[in-house]
Amino acid sequence: MEEVFISGFDKFNGKEVAIKGWVTNRRESKTIVFLIVRDGTGFTQCVVAQEKTGDEIFSIARQLSLETAVVIEGVVNRDEKQIGGFELLVSRLAVLSQSENYPISNKPHGTDYLMDNRHLWLRSRRQWAIMRVRNQLIQAIHRYFQKNGFIQMDAPIFTGNACEGTSTLFGTDFFGQPAYLSQSGQLYGESMAFAHGKIYTFGPTFRAEKSKTRRHLSEFWMIEPEMAFYTLEDDMELIEDFMKNVVKDVLTQCASELKILERDTAYLENGVNKPFCRMTYSEAVKIIRGEKEVNGKNSINTLENDLKELQEKIRKVQEEIAERTNKTKQSGVKQGEISFHKSKIDALTGELHELEETAKNIPQWIESAKNFKEGGDFGGSDETVLTRLFDVPVMVFNWPHEVKAFYMKRDEKDSRYARGVDVLAPEGFGEIVGGGERETDLNLLIGKIRENELPMKEFEWYLDLRRYGSVPHSGFGLGLERFVAWICGLHHVRETIPFPRMYGRLFP
Ligand code: 4AD
Ligand code: MG
Repeated sequence: MEEVFISGFDKFNGKEVAIKGWVTNRRESKTIVFLIVRDGTGFTQCVVAQEKTGDEIFSIARQLSLETAVVIEGVVNRDEKQIGGFELLVSRLAVLSQSENYPISNKPHGTDYLMDNRHLWLRSRRQWAIMRVRNQLIQAIHRYFQKNGFIQMDAPIFTGNACEGTSTLFGTDFFGQPAYLSQSGQLYGESMAFAHGKIYTFGPTFRAEKSKTRRHLSEFWMIEPEMAFYTLEDDMELIEDFMKNVVKDVLTQCASELKILERDTAYLENGVNKPFCRMTYSEAVKIIRGEKEVNGKNSINTLENDLKELQEKIRKVQEEIAERTNKTKQSGVKQGEISFHKSKIDALTGELHELEETAKNIPQWIESAKNFKEGGDFGGSDETVLTRLFDVPVMVFNWPHEVKAFYMKRDEKDSRYARGVDVLAPEGFGEIVGGGERETDLNLLIGKIRENELPMKEFEWYLDLRRYGSVPHSGFGLGLERFVAWICGLHHVRETIPFPRMYGRLFP
């Protein structure tokens, strides 16, 4: 008998096969046990009918506990209604390894608990789907750059100098010499671009931000292309073309995973099909403050409407919770009905907390949007306020030079601004790309290093790039986890990486 993978079932319809995997769910009636089995490549329902398997196998099936490892033989049967589009009509079944009291059950668990059990949580279907999207996205990114003449090169992780400011450095000891974990491969990328023209790095980067937000990890993966002879405009063209292509790739290749995640892909499709929006920082500030409208929409009014809608939704959810609670208390109600209502109430309560949280935030967002001071960096809420008005990614360029890193090129037409660009994803996901044109003028760069109180000696090698054949060049950095979060529609980046490292979490 052929041993196959669940992902390959379509080649074996009607045939008898064997699979090896783990039991992830079990329900039963008198004479049939339904198992959901996963084998790494997919999930499938296995139907164990007593009259078909005989009593011995049937009684084994009835006792299978969650995550027991099994080998199962049966006939593949196409059935579009089932998980994965097939089921397995079981003829034989054996236990490979027991699993007692698996810590993650099918009832709701808090996120902290799931994070503590991340090594096991990775097995669950949603987490499985997210990791497959991440994998496809990585493949798509490599495909794009390789097809377009970029060379992948790797930047070091131990570094002697800061790239993105000294406040978020993880220090370490390098044979008695102070060293840091890399915040960005960019400075090395610039030197590689002068050797190879167009390069990209793709590696882990580290930021010691002591903040618990849904967008920040202490360790994350960054894709950083760097191109000789590219201006900011060329850079923005590349960013848009790159994002459109990889999102399109992932939408086609991960359709089933995105369905598991119940992702509404409308905004992603817009990102592929419609032009991104481009605006200067100053224009963005006017929009945030409500001084400039977008397609007849004003940021402050939009938020006020959001709040009204939210309050209406909260009222409805509260009503439903009350109704269902009442139903559980009525006389003669069956136990099954009670637990049905209870599980609905659990889900609704979770939803209610989220809605209330957002409703609490909106008035603060409105205040800080109205009072936004020109010259400042955008906070998470400012990004949300701005992107709320668009259904495509927004590119904001020409930032006040004080809020951007020392290496950004000064705008020759207006020296208050630096030629940087941030790409903000719609739906409240915020900044996913940061990049721009690099300063080529040796003296301006030296001035910036001084201004930022960075140690000149450690940057000598970088300054050499301006001494020996300096040319215009640009690049950008894409945070892989934020991109995965947007594509999968996840509230928090912690689920986008197998083992997140963030403020307050080093284990498992
Ligand atoms: O905007 P950032 O800091 O830019 C750079 O590091 C440049 N050197 C990149 C370049 O031009 N080559 O970071 C780039 C991106 C952000 O837009 C965000 O997606 C991600 O990296 N990022 C983070 N992702 C998760 N957790 C964090 N703490 C992140 N900090 C930045
Ligand atoms: Mg940035």
